Amino acid sequence: MMKTLVVAFLLVACIAATSYGAEEPYQIFPLRLKSGSGPEGASVQGITCASWRLAVEVHNIIEWTGIPAECRDYVGNYMLGQHYRDDSKAVNREAYFYARSLALPRDGRNIWIFDIDETSLSNLPYFVQNGFGALPYNETEFYEFLGKGVSPALPETRKLYNKLLNLGIKIVFLTGRTTDLTTATVANLKKAGYHTWHKLILKDTTEHGDSTAVVYKSAEREKLVKQGYRIVGNIGDQWSDILGTHTGRRTFKLPDPVYYVS
Ligand SMILES: *[C@@H]1O[C@H](CO)[C@@H](O)[C@H](O)[C@H]1NC(C)=O
Repeated sequence: MMKTLVVAFLLVACIAATSYGAEEPYQIFPLRLKSGSGPEGASVQGITCASWRLAVEVHNIIEWTGIPAECRDYVGNYMLGQHYRDDSKAVNREAYFYARSLALPRDGRNIWIFDIDETSLSNLPYFVQNGFGALPYNETEFYEFLGKGVSPALPETRKLYNKLLNLGIKIVFLTGRTTDLTTATVANLKKAGYHTWHKLILKDTTEHGDSTAVVYKSAEREKLVKQGYRIVGNIGDQWSDILGTHTGRRTFKLPDPVYYVS
C-alpha cells in the first residue's frame, strides 16, 4: 500500500514538475488523486488522521517531528486535493474581510507580515517527492530545493497579498530562511507573482544564532514596531509565526500538516 502510494506521488512529482513553471503559476494542485479529502478513516494510535490533523492545527499536538506513517496517505490527499486549498481560502478570505474593515491612518506605517514557506510559497513539489515523509526529511536536500527558487505561490495567499496592496498596506516578508537564500528567495517570490514588498527579512544567523523561530521572529517584529510601523496583520502556517511578542493586531494561521517549527 505504502509503496504504491510513494510511486503514485513520484508520478505526481513528474507531472507537477512540468506544470509548476512560471507560465502556469495557478496550477499548484493539478491533480485530484481522489474526490473528497482522502481516507479520513485511516487512524493513528486510536484517533483518525483527520482528528490528528485538527489537533495539530489547533496546537494541541506540538513539537511533532513528522507525519505519522499511518497518515501520509491522508495528508497527501489533503494537500493535493481541494481541501487544503479550501482551508487556505477560508483563512485568507477572513484576513481580507478584517483588513477591509480597518479604518487605518494614512501615514504609510501600516504593515502586514507574511511568512514565506507554506504561506506565500508552497513547497509541495518537495513534499510530493519525499512521499510526505515516507523518505526521511533531509535538511540539506530541502535547502537545495529552496535554492532552486521554483516553489509556486499559494494562490489564496497571493490573492490576499494583492488585496492588501490595493488597501495601501505595506508587505513585509519575515522568514526563517537564512540569508544565504536571499537571491533565490527574491527570484522565487517574483516568479510566483509577488512583485513588490516593503521589506524582506531573512534569518541572519550571525545575529540570531540558532534561536527558535518564536524568538527570532519576535525580535524582528519588535524592531519593526520600534521603527514606527504598525503591524495590522500577521499570517503564517506555523504557530511560531504568530506566537511571541509584537504579534500584530490580528494573526491568521494557515494549515500545515507537513512539518512543525518551534
Ligand atoms: C542528505 O542529502 C544529501 C544531499 O543529497 C546527502 O549528501 C546526505 O547524505 C543526506 N543525509 C542523510 C542523513 O541522508
